[in-house]
Amino acid sequence: MLEKKEDALYEQLRAIVSDMKNLRNPLIEILHQAQKLFGYLPMEVQRFVAEELEIPVNKVYGVVTFYNAFTMKPRGKYVINVCTGTACYVKGAPRIIQMLSEILDVELGETTEDGIFTVTAVRCVGACSLAPVFMVEEETFGRIETRKQLQEIISNYRQKV
Ligand code: FES
Repeated sequence: MLEKKEDALYEQLRAIVSDMKNLRNPLIEILHQAQKLFGYLPMEVQRFVAEELEIPVNKVYGVVTFYNAFTMKPRGKYVINVCTGTACYVKGAPRIIQMLSEILDVELGETTEDGIFTVTAVRCVGACSLAPVFMVEEETFGRIETRKQLQEIISNYRQKV
């Protein structure tokens, strides 16, 4: 079953590459699409893209490791992006990170054992008046101060799984 799902993803990726390969500098956009499909960019996916584009795999690897937007590690179903821009930092981002680490038992950049959450840090997300801010996927949370508030948000997301 898993293999079938993987095969289907590779077929979709093949179609994406073939649609985009004649664009000027298609690699970054193709990698974004690949990451959307697979959730991350393991070496097998990078090799596949390199073969389809007929370019060296080192070139693909170079781009994947250069841009923060790309990851070679699997991410959780929900990525929690904690803003560590200046306003949020001053208003308690380190404490939010600390509490999330304790609640989810992960360090920054890691994914929970059940694969549901990944905690990462991002720069200013443009909602400084709500500092400290974090985002779960597209949803923004601001002025969260207590562990209880955080726990409620986490458990709401857990219930959606
Ligand atoms: S510094 Fe966090 S939203 Fe601007």
